[in-house]
Amino acid sequence: MSAFKKNIQETAVLVETALEDFLPTQEGPLGRVVDAMRWGSLDGGKRLRPFLAIAAADIFDCPRERSIRVGCAVEMIHCYSLIHDDLPAMDNSDLRRGRPSVHKKFDDATAILAGDALLTQAFEILADDATHPDGAVRCAVALELARASGKAGMVGGQMIDIYAEQKDFDLAGVTQLQRLKTGALIRFSTIGGGLVGGASKEETALLAAYAEDLGLAFQIVDDILDETADAETLGKPVGQDTEMDKATFIKLFGMDGARSKAEQLVITAKAHLDRFGDAAEPLRGAADFVFERKN
Ligand code: IPE
Ligand code: IPE
Ligand code: MG
Ligand code: MG
Ligand code: MG
Repeated sequence: MSAFKKNIQETAVLVETALEDFLPTQEGPLGRVVDAMRWGSLDGGKRLRPFLAIAAADIFDCPRERSIRVGCAVEMIHCYSLIHDDLPAMDNSDLRRGRPSVHKKFDDATAILAGDALLTQAFEILADDATHPDGAVRCAVALELARASGKAGMVGGQMIDIYAEQKDFDLAGVTQLQRLKTGALIRFSTIGGGLVGGASKEETALLAAYAEDLGLAFQIVDDILDETADAETLGKPVGQDTEMDKATFIKLFGMDGARSKAEQLVITAKAHLDRFGDAAEPLRGAADFVFERKN
């Protein structure tokens, strides 16, 4: 197994344990929403975003108990975005991470509420003293996550994505859509880890530049896999982007063009890490993984 694979698997175990602790099962009517939150967030996914947060924080020798919290917060937002993305009103996907999506396992209303509750709990985690003793740092991290998640980030991107089904998009349009829909949370993951680790302004800017290229590459590969992979390997439906006429790099440049664009972005992403030397090796591994991944 490659050093990267071992590394991401080890952090995924830490994240899984922490998420379990954040989401204990409950009796009574509240139990249902907790069960749906657990269904949508536990025991699945690549955990790439928490990996990026933890790997970025590790560069600055940040205590893991802090960076894991930042990783869990962004993973909760990510899982909420997937739960809502799969709803009939959005992508209408019945399969997620190799099992029924939350609205299929429960129902639409429960899926909406589970997403809402994961979203709010992410900020509860960041606001807690355990994330960082300095309130100004906690506030800075929460501010970045709010920006990355809301109308100027993931939510805005999802809005454009839906609108894109009826519109023709050029390169600038598709880039903006993907930067918001997917790039913003990936960017947050990396700089959120940096901030909780005490990165300087300049270091944070380098981490952001890395993550911006990485985020774009990530969504291009997601779109490639939607067209080339099988549902079993991917753990989610395939062929939906063409069916729904989504705005993608493949639509603009064809499969080979999209692939070489993603490959180029991975190279430029890694170039932003030079200043961090060997300490950034896990982030370099993550960039290679984003291009080579099969699911
Ligand atoms: C899927 O993200 C949704 C996108 C933003 C493209 P991931 O491919 O990271 O999904 P999981 O977390 O591994 O299931
Ligand atoms: C969704 O993009 C990105 C989110 C913000 C959830 P996709 O709709 O392409 O994600 P998948 O392919 O369903 O995972
Ligand atoms: Mg979608
Ligand atoms: Mg989708
Ligand atoms: Mg997709």
